[in-house]
Amino acid sequence: MLISVCIGSACHLKGSYDVIDKLQELVEDNNLGNKVELKAVFCLGNCQNGVSVKINEEEHIYSVTKKTVNTFFEEVVKPKLTE
Ligand code: FES
Repeated sequence: MLISVCIGSACHLKGSYDVIDKLQELVEDNNLGNKVELKAVFCLGNCQNGVSVKINEEEHIYSVTKKTVNTFFEEVVKPKLTE
């Protein structure tokens, strides 16, 4: 799975790096380093609702913040890994 996190200016201001750091930590803690790749990308066209995160080539853009990143990981990332 490829998780792309927007580091465009709007998302950057909303804490892209906190989201990336936290995701990295969650991936490591769950021993998913061989299944999940994290990538920083530029504007995903969803600046109003940043931090914008995309999974693989899906159309859907997720809005993730430092506060919701744990839930995002548990409820979106993990289930998708077992699909
Ligand atoms: S800056 Fe992140 S979607 Fe535009």
